[in-house]
Amino acid sequence: MSRALRAILEASGAGHGDRPDLGHGLDSRARTGFALSLLGLDRLALLREPGLCVSEEQAQNLEAAFAKLAQGMSPARILGRREFWSLDFEITPDTLEPRPETEILVEQAVALLADRPGARLADLGTGSGCILLSILSECPQATGLGLDLAPGAVETALRNARRLGLADRASFLVSDWFTALDQQNGRPRFDLLASNPPYIASAVVDGLPKIVRDQDPRLALEGGRDGLAAYRILATQGQDYLVPGGAMVMEIGFDQEASVAALFAQAGWRPGVCTRDLAGMPRTWVMHAGGV
Ligand SMILES: C[S@@+](CC[C@H](N)C(=O)[O-])C[C@H]1O[C@@H](n2cnc3c(N)ncnc32)[C@H](O)[C@@H]1O
Repeated sequence: MSRALRAILEASGAGHGDRPDLGHGLDSRARTGFALSLLGLDRLALLREPGLCVSEEQAQNLEAAFAKLAQGMSPARILGRREFWSLDFEITPDTLEPRPETEILVEQAVALLADRPGARLADLGTGSGCILLSILSECPQATGLGLDLAPGAVETALRNARRLGLADRASFLVSDWFTALDQQNGRPRFDLLASNPPYIASAVVDGLPKIVRDQDPRLALEGGRDGLAAYRILATQGQDYLVPGGAMVMEIGFDQEASVAALFAQAGWRPGVCTRDLAGMPRTWVMHAGGV
């Protein structure tokens, strides 16, 4: 048995044209695009074949996906894919859904590497690998290592590297921050460390609505009692893994500009720029290894 895709879309509130958003979080065009992506069809499929039919199983999958959308789940989470830096990333339950504001970190990193063509970089808390792989896509001679405590994230990042054709310049390791690096022969040193660590205070994570809290792994969100646990480790240990003149670029929470700066100053780093996002909120800090 098969069913007309258009009828399923109409029933979900995803008809054609400019119907108003019926509360599923996406307007009608976006919902149609979402359904076509879910089916693995291109955006013109319905235009080419207005009477397009799908199998009963596909119809049920679509209806289930629209139900999740109506509950507030993000389209990327349902699709298991997210665009970041114009690249397509697989995401899994072990990885954060990459956020658009993290592209600022990539921008900063690419600028820092402009005069270091053969740079080596490490991405701490790599998740889907979106930061490391986006930087490598812009810096064709650079090589990088992505580290994450979650084995599932490391596996996902490796698949993303392979699919994006970057696996020859990217490697990944399961590691509790820098720990796995110390188990290697000779401590590696990098030109640049990048990190978007978990930075939300535990109590704030607990207070998030369940549908929001459950979309991303808790390990990717929770930064300890004050949200600064990961920055303390990055600040106190990071310089041991940098070449002279090396730098670290990090994403920070909107209210962490001063507290992160203080932690890094205390550990002897030289502050670079703190960049704001489109909403005017502090979003990334660049810190330079001290003594240069
Ligand atoms: C905010 S997410 C960032 C993911 C990805 N880099 C991004 O920007 O989308 C933080 C990441 O840090 C990882 N993480 C948490 N604790 C860690 C630890 N102790 N050591 C290494 N990685 C850790 C999480 O698994 C998660 O992938």
